[in-house]
Parts: sequence; C-alpha cells; structure tokens
Amino acid sequence: MRPVVPTALVLAALAACAREPAPAATPELDTMDERKPVPLLPMMAHHQKQNMRDHLVAVEEIVGALATDDFAAMERAAGRIGFSEKMGQMCTHMGAGAPGFTERALAFHHTADEIAVAASARDRTAVTKALDATLKACTACHAAYKQQIVDQATWQKLTASAAPAAGKGH
Ligand code: HEC
Repeated sequence: MRPVVPTALVLAALAACAREPAPAATPELDTMDERKPVPLLPMMAHHQKQNMRDHLVAVEEIVGALATDDFAAMERAAGRIGFSEKMGQMCTHMGAGAPGFTERALAFHHTADEIAVAASARDRTAVTKALDATLKACTACHAAYKQQIVDQATWQKLTASAAPAAGKGH
C-alpha cells in the first residue's frame, strides 16, 4: 500500500544483484575454459593482447598483398610477425610462468619467417603454404593457452618455480 518502502527495498535488492555476480564471474569462466594458464601481470597481459591484435593485422596485410601480387608488401607484413632477438626476449618473458609456451611462440615466429622467404622469391604458392603453417601455429596456441592475470607476488612465485635458471642462458 505504501510504495516508498518497497521501492527502496527493490532498488536495494537490484543493486545487490548487480554487484553480487562480479566476484564469482571470473572463476566461473575459468572453470569452463580448460586451457592451460599463462600467468601474466596486468600490464603484460595488455601488452600481449596488443601484440596479438597486431599479429592479426599482419595476417590481414599478407592476405591483401596476396590478392594484388604485392610481394614487397607481403615481405614487410611478414617481418612484423617474424623472429627477432627482441621478439624472442619478449616471448621468453611472457612464457616465464607457462611451461611450453615460449617454445611454441618461438616456433611460431620462425614459421612466419618462411612467409618472408617465399615472398622475396616471389613464390605465391610457397607464401600461401607458409601462411597456412603460420595460422596453424596461431590456432594451436589459442587452443592450448589462456591468459591468467595475476599480481606481482603470484607471478614471481610461479615464474621462479616454472623457469629455474633457464631464462638466463637464452
Ligand atoms: C604461443 C602462443 C600464441 C601464438 C603463436 C599466437 N597467439 Fe594469439 N593469443 C595467445 C593467447 C594466450 C591469447 C589470449 C587468449 C585468452 O586468454 O583467451 C591470444 C589472443 C589473441 C587475440 C585476441 C586479442 C584481444 O585483444 O583479446 C588475437 C586477435 C590473436 N591472439 C591473434 C593471433 C594471431 C593472428 C596469431 C598468429 C599470426 C597468434 N595470435 C598467435 C597466444 C598465442
């Protein structure tokens, strides 16, 4: 009969509903997603995703260049996902807490190098084959790994146990 109190209660209940699911939502997703975790600090995770989006841009550019037989553009775009000392260091850092991740990442960049080799030989078929092999490396890694955002203390603990001294030699 007096709408004021019930309205306030309803609003309070709604506010509680809106807040409640948040803490449970991330673990719920994590349970569904059975891929192996790659522990990363928030900044590293952000950086990795930026790189990933740029990898997709590089693939887009390679396909576009294939459509116009622009071998120089294929070579340039492939260079962005190819192996370099800097890329290797970054992958080693990103994979420090995820056994097998860095090896897979380095193999991927070396596969992508084949695109540039084929483009410089102006060999369309070889470019297409190398692009196919590269995309298989992308999809295989995505099927195997997911990001796991952790704090500094957790990251240090996980990387200390997963990569004993190995990081130093490379
Ligand atoms: C060595 C592993 C690995 C390889 C190789 C790899 N990725 Fe990823 N990629 C990841 C991980 C891990 C994520 C985060 C996935 C998650 O948490 O759901 C990701 C996410 C992405 C995303 C989503 C970015 C966002 O903003 O959310 C895109 C796009 C992507 N990758 C593109 C590519 C492309 C294109 C290639 C190949 C040319 C590639 N990746 C190769 C590991 C890899």
